[in-house]
Amino acid sequence: MKIKMMKNNTVIWGIMFLCLCLISCEYNVEEDDFTGTSCDPNLSFSDVIRPIIDDNCIQCHNGTIHPYDFRIFSIVQENAETIKQLTQARIMPKEGSLTSQEIDQIACWVENGAQNN
Ligand code: HEC
Repeated sequence: MKIKMMKNNTVIWGIMFLCLCLISCEYNVEEDDFTGTSCDPNLSFSDVIRPIIDDNCIQCHNGTIHPYDFRIFSIVQENAETIKQLTQARIMPKEGSLTSQEIDQIACWVENGAQNN
């Protein structure tokens, strides 16, 4: 009888632990997701986005062997939606990575209309 109760307790603690794990995982995902609330409507291309692209993209996207010359603003602008999607999916930068903050900043700039600001 006593042993059985102990087993039940173990199961209950196990379930509670699992729930805690699930809650904390979900919380982390939400933290990383771009919610739009932190998107600065004046986020500047030249101050914020240009340096991210220069550091992470133009070693490939510079008009030589890879598609698109991202040194040219209009080409970045034309592909803004794709850039947002591929960075959020972490498909680009190929062979590299961006921080969640950088990914959010790109998404924010695109949602603001991909302006040359
Ligand atoms: C190591 C080289 C490399 C780096 C760095 C890189 N890319 Fe790419 N990118 C490629 C190649 C190669 C392709 C062609 C598609 C493929 O092979 O996956 C491509 C394709 C693309 C495309 C076009 C996809 C399509 O379907 O038309 C976009 C947009 C893009 N990259 C954005 C970026 C952005 C934004 C960055 C920086 C955050 C970046 N890339 C960094 C190599 C790179």
